[in-house]
Amino acid sequence: MARSKEFDHGGLKRLVIVSNRLPVALAKREDGSWEIRRSTGGLVTALAPIFRRMGGLWIGWSGTFEDVNLDELMPLNDKDISQVSFRAVPLTEEEVNQYYLGFSNETIWPLFHDMHSRCKFEPESWHIYQEVNRKFAHAVEKSSDENDCIWVHDYHLMLVARELRAMNVKRRVVFFLHTPFPPLDIFIKLPWRVQVIRALLEYDLVGFQTMRDRNNFIDCVEHFSSGSHLDARRRVAVITTPQREIRTGIFPISIDFDEFSLQAGDEAVTEKVVQMHQSMPGCQVILGVDRLDYSKGIPLRLRAFKNALERFSDLRRRVTLVEIVVPSRENIQEYQKLKANIEGLVSEINGEFAEVGWNPVQYMFRAQERIDLLAYYRAASIALITPLKDGMNLVAKEYCAANIEENGVLILSEFAGAAIQLHRNPLLVNPYDIEGVSSAIYRAYNMDMDERKARMRRLRNAIRRRDIFWWVDSFLNTVAMCKQGDTTTQP
Ligand code: UDP
Ligand code: G6P
Repeated sequence: MARSKEFDHGGLKRLVIVSNRLPVALAKREDGSWEIRRSTGGLVTALAPIFRRMGGLWIGWSGTFEDVNLDELMPLNDKDISQVSFRAVPLTEEEVNQYYLGFSNETIWPLFHDMHSRCKFEPESWHIYQEVNRKFAHAVEKSSDENDCIWVHDYHLMLVARELRAMNVKRRVVFFLHTPFPPLDIFIKLPWRVQVIRALLEYDLVGFQTMRDRNNFIDCVEHFSSGSHLDARRRVAVITTPQREIRTGIFPISIDFDEFSLQAGDEAVTEKVVQMHQSMPGCQVILGVDRLDYSKGIPLRLRAFKNALERFSDLRRRVTLVEIVVPSRENIQEYQKLKANIEGLVSEINGEFAEVGWNPVQYMFRAQERIDLLAYYRAASIALITPLKDGMNLVAKEYCAANIEENGVLILSEFAGAAIQLHRNPLLVNPYDIEGVSSAIYRAYNMDMDERKARMRRLRNAIRRRDIFWWVDSFLNTVAMCKQGDTTTQP
């Protein structure tokens, strides 16, 4: 497939990304000045390099309650996003509570990760979610024209196309869901299921990470949108409603493989790798890297590691689990409880097994600089990535890209989107199966170098072939096939 350097797809001239979060987050210092940091999470890692190539506009929330002119705070010393113009959408505290923390992260997030018992279904949050989606639609309308491709991202903003159509704004407006989409028997629990499905059918293209997610979406469309017709014979399915034609396809998101691989070989990273090995002599490093999130399966992973130390005593003093947890959504009670649970388990394991000169678990609760993250990726003989459900999981791909010696083993949950794409070469595990994960740790520890290298080489080739630029091109080439949506909304 030809790789586009500039943005020109189907006659559209500029890319406008719309997401809840901008790639930069602002925090006020005590002296009143602003600190600008790069946001964390897979969405930002994936999308930022695209702008290096194509430029464009990014619309999103700045992470503060104040109306800040981001252009005045730039330029940024970040080559990925220095080509971007930003438009910050200010949100009030009430909006953040109800739309972001509430509906997005206490209703849709757990529902879409098959954890409906964690869901709150608050009518007020739904109302404010709709208002905030309208606010984003107004920002799109003000900052774009008919030659732009409006690309909306993720579960926070499922209604933006609906709001644009209701305002009679003519735009090519497309959507990509970074999370999983749940099966019908789970989605059906959402009190506003019909409104959400109909709103998604207001986009010209709806993209998913895996076949599993796309098929779940189609099942829900067939159930809740009578009068729509489906043609699923081609790679990209076409749904025809009385109002428009919607395309829906599968686009497994990825990373800038070459960049990760190249940076991993930097001298500064190599020095840190040497230091890490010196600080854990004779040990294989097992690595976990996750945002603090119950979907990541961290407590079960720790229990599996403990089980491995109990069952396979030759692992003691020979492995160290480095668990990096990045703070996330800390105002939500479930996340606070999770943190306490993780910390309890870490001290239980260290309390039971630590010996002079060896701590079985090294736990960090903070975001890492890129250089440190790369060093941990390179130093780790085993990556232990066991989400209970995950849209893709970019950490799995980053670990392989950074493993330039091609000697690491990837242990990966069957329920991560990445497992569907990479299937044969990681050691696949069911994250709920504590003894199964513990056995996989032991198998990885004992895996001979020939097998390690063969598996890792295949993993790296697969990720290199389908990197983030392949992803953006395959999505935007599909956008070019779409007819521009009219402005009529469904009744
Ligand atoms: N990450 C980060 N800072 C850190 C640790 C991780 O920015 O200290 C990044 C990591 O490089 C990856 C992203 O966070 O790109 C996590 O993405 P993933 O798809 O694995 O999960 P998500 O957090 O999006 O659910
Ligand atoms: C996941 C979501 C992203 C989100 C990220 C970080 O990757 O799919 O939309 O940005 O987590 O979460 P946060 O709530 O901090 O934006």
